[in-house]
Amino acid sequence: MSASTLVTNIGELVANDPSADDLLGLRTDAALVVEDGRVAWVGDAADAPAADEVVDVGARAVLPGFVDSHSHLVFAGDRAQEFRARVAGEAYAAGGIRTTVAATRAASDEDLAAGVARHVEEMRRQGTTTVEIKSGYGLTVDDEARALRVARGFTDETTFLGAHVVAPEHAEDPGGYVDLVTGPMLEAAAPHARWIDVFCERGAFDADQARTILRAGEAAGLRGRLHANQLGHGPGAALAAELGLVAVDHCTFLSADDVHALREAGTVATLLPGVEFSTRQPYPSGRRLLDAGVTVAIASDCNPGSCYTSSLPFCIALAVREMGMTPSEAVWAATAGGAAALDRTDVGRLVPGSRADLVVLDAPSHVHLAYRPGVPLVAKTLVSR
Ligand code: NIG
Ligand code: FE
Repeated sequence: MSASTLVTNIGELVANDPSADDLLGLRTDAALVVEDGRVAWVGDAADAPAADEVVDVGARAVLPGFVDSHSHLVFAGDRAQEFRARVAGEAYAAGGIRTTVAATRAASDEDLAAGVARHVEEMRRQGTTTVEIKSGYGLTVDDEARALRVARGFTDETTFLGAHVVAPEHAEDPGGYVDLVTGPMLEAAAPHARWIDVFCERGAFDADQARTILRAGEAAGLRGRLHANQLGHGPGAALAAELGLVAVDHCTFLSADDVHALREAGTVATLLPGVEFSTRQPYPSGRRLLDAGVTVAIASDCNPGSCYTSSLPFCIALAVREMGMTPSEAVWAATAGGAAALDRTDVGRLVPGSRADLVVLDAPSHVHLAYRPGVPLVAKTLVSR
């Protein structure tokens, strides 16, 4: 790319400018200038300054690239059989994770990296420009460290999820497994991770175990996040608020007290509607959280078990159809909301100084993402790095 690029003839620009009066900071007939991978100028196309290169997007809509704050891309194999059984009536259970653990341990580093590359590219084609990637299918010191090393090759937003489920070798000794996670596994993982996560759910880890693991992670320089309240009511969301975590993910079953606590703590509730689609559970209400003043993010949770979609446009459409969110709220949640869930302000918005990660839709407005579900509307994705 030349030194400066003018992107012009933008029919609708979603800027997510926090100082705008409307949620999305919408502008029509807009333009923006990109310099050195950053947005240098945003304004009316008629006032645009000269640039070295001009890209005319033909009155299409331009959005910040999607920020997918929750994925599990380091895995081998798939669980199509499990999905088939589920749509025939079986319930989703956390134990299926162990099937993927066995396949992942048996895979080579090269195969794991090739799988991540394939899925990141698939995400890119659907408009995702920032992705968080978790470990959690290794569950040994070496396999968790290697999963994070592989993930680091694709993103800085890496999350140590040794506490996904108790490793099969420790089935009779969950306390011993927590000691392993908070000891040698954390030590090996920490250099490759920014975040630490725990699946706080019946069948995985309880609140005391999760607290212990998150505190150990924090002492090792990692920031905490949680999988919680996915399969039923439980203590995870309240724990996330108690610990002041940046985000708590799933939030399918929340009590009124949970919602209040999240709002008070300023913890982002990350909703993963692809999971409810795939597990056939009830959808959480985005409306209830938004009306209570909770910040909501939408992410894919792309993984081979509970949700094998990499598509944030699909998740946006589900949020609008099934979770009471407006198209604007759903688009915000998948861009600025995802950025908030990763404590980032340089992505998820297109304002001077932000990263020039942007999506050109083959459509005149962001509403089409929900209005035309399943249609590949992303015409072009630009990534600043
Ligand atoms: O986010 N909830 C726990 N972990 C994943 C599921 C992983 C799996 O089933 O393999 C999730 O849904
Ligand atoms: Fe997950």
